[in-house]
Order: sequence, then C-alpha cells, then structure tokens
Amino acid sequence: MPAKPSILLHLTDLHFGWNATDLAATTQRTLSLDSLLQTIKELPAEWKPTIICLSGDIAWVGSAADYQLAKAWLDKLLACCELDYSQVLVAAGNHDIVRQEATYFPRPSTSAEADKALRLPIGRAYQYAFEPFTKFCTDSGILPMHIQETTSYLVGERILDDIRFVTLNSSWYCRDNHDDHQLWLGLPQIQPLVVQGQLEDIEAATTPLTVVLMHHPFDLLRPEEQRTYDKRPNPRDYVAKRSHLILTGHTHARMARPDTVAAGAYHFPGAAAYAGSDHPNGFRLIRLTPEQFTYCAYEYDAGTDSPTWRPAGAVQSVPRQQLRPTLPVAEPEKKKPL
Ligand SMILES: [Fe+2]
Repeated sequence: MPAKPSILLHLTDLHFGWNATDLAATTQRTLSLDSLLQTIKELPAEWKPTIICLSGDIAWVGSAADYQLAKAWLDKLLACCELDYSQVLVAAGNHDIVRQEATYFPRPSTSAEADKALRLPIGRAYQYAFEPFTKFCTDSGILPMHIQETTSYLVGERILDDIRFVTLNSSWYCRDNHDDHQLWLGLPQIQPLVVQGQLEDIEAATTPLTVVLMHHPFDLLRPEEQRTYDKRPNPRDYVAKRSHLILTGHTHARMARPDTVAAGAYHFPGAAAYAGSDHPNGFRLIRLTPEQFTYCAYEYDAGTDSPTWRPAGAVQSVPRQQLRPTLPVAEPEKKKPL
C-alpha cells in the first residue's frame, strides 16, 4: 500500500451512445454527466479519486462512435481528478461486445465446453468481438493487464499504486436480452493467474491488496460458476478467496451496501451512472488503507428542480480481511535425563 490512502472512484454502466437519437433523453443525460463532473471536482481533498475503476458498459453497442463519446467525457473526468489514463482500470460489459460478432460462437452448455472455449490464449473470435473496446483502451492510453506471456484488456492483472487489480470478463457470451444465468467467467483464464502468482490467497501475509473488476455480479452467471458440483472449483468462491474487493455493475439497481462473498472478498455492487432518469443512478468512492475500506455513495436525483449528485447515506467502513493466524512453533522436546 502507498503511504497515502488510495481513493477508488467506482463508476459503471456509463453507456455512451445511449439514446443518441432521443433529444430529451440525451439532454437529461448530459445534465447528469455534467453534474457528475462538477460533483467530483468539488469533492473534499480526502475523497479526491486517485484511481478510476470502470466495471463495464462504457459503450451502448460497443461501437467506435460510442467510445469516441466515452473518451471525450473521460478526458474531462480525468482533468477534474488531475489524473491520466494510466490511473484508469476497465472491465468489459455486455454493451462493450459487438453482438453481431458474438453470435458466431455458441454459448457453452456445460462447464467442460466452457473451459475448452475459454482456454488461453483467448480465441480470435472472442478477441474480435471486443475489438472496438480494445482499440478504445489502447488509443486512450489505458495500460493493459498481464496474463501469461501476453497482455490484454479483457482479462489479466496489473499493479497500480501497490494495489493488485485483476480484470475478469463476464461478458464473453453476451449477445441479447437473455444473457443472465448463461454467462461463464472463464476458469481456465483465472487459474493461470493463480499459477503465475497474480491472484493469491488473501489470508497469506504477502498477498497485496487485491481488487477484482468484473461486470456481472456472480448471481447472474451460470450455476456452475457459483457452486461446485463435481471436482471443478467454482469461480465465485475461487476468486472471493483471492481478492479483498470485487467491484461489479450491470444491474442498474440502487447502490447497495457491500456483502461478503464466500467468507472472502467484499462485493461492492455499483449502480449505473447513467441509465436514464427513472433509474437510481449512483457512483461510489472507496478509500483503501491497510486496516480498513471506507466508502461513501452518491446518487443522482433527477426529480428536483436542480438535479444533482448527492451523498446517499453515511460514510461507512469495513475492516480489511484477517490474515491467517500464525500457529505457535512447538518448542523441541527436551530430552529427559537418563
Ligand atoms: Fe450491463
């Protein structure tokens, strides 16, 4: 951990390109996003973001035009935070895949099929389906994640400010409105991170603070990704044991308090920031110190005569997960005198 606390700004489901043809909705969206920038700019110094985490759905249809809009707004956000793209982490969401391309590969119906399809290196068809997302990341100067001998923006690990960030992709099989419970995270992509020491048990004293970004919460994945039925570990428990925080998006629900996954990671579900004026839009700030994680949420109230982002609830903290207790070393038995 760096000497100064790191402040994560967790934004998700920004949906650039959304309602581009509906003037009223576009106007409301602009008001909301402009107001968000102003809110970030006016944050007190102790809450000024040092790292920006985007947990997916940056775009609306995963097109270059969407990402052009995203880049223009993110440039302004980074200026408000006095940061650059090297301080930005991204995960891909279901609106970041080119759906037409995704229809060329079927959704696996068994874990064996999924583990074959999602093995490393990432298949070309899968990479191609996220090509505009990857191009946006590359062109904007976001730094890639490392996985095995290569780099990727879709899955991998990167250390930033002494914090380990791991990006996972829950959106490989997104293509329509029936994605939920059909999604595979890619166990064969997660296990190599463990083998390479890029994802480690959080109970070990040497494991750095680890933050996982993925778009869908675990309960929207296939049952096999949440529970173990045979001798295949389920990615939910497998990842939760090896991460302190898991940041997700997608649900567009009201900002919920974190819960604990499988007695391991704290799961912070994010609210959309922006999915229309009738949605409970929100974002969260999380201050990381060696002892605890302190967080506060903001929500956008579109129903007032001066709509703006306001703190939602009190600032709260959760303690950092305990390290494995060190067992006392047994003293060697003294030889009894003969
Ligand atoms: Fe989504």
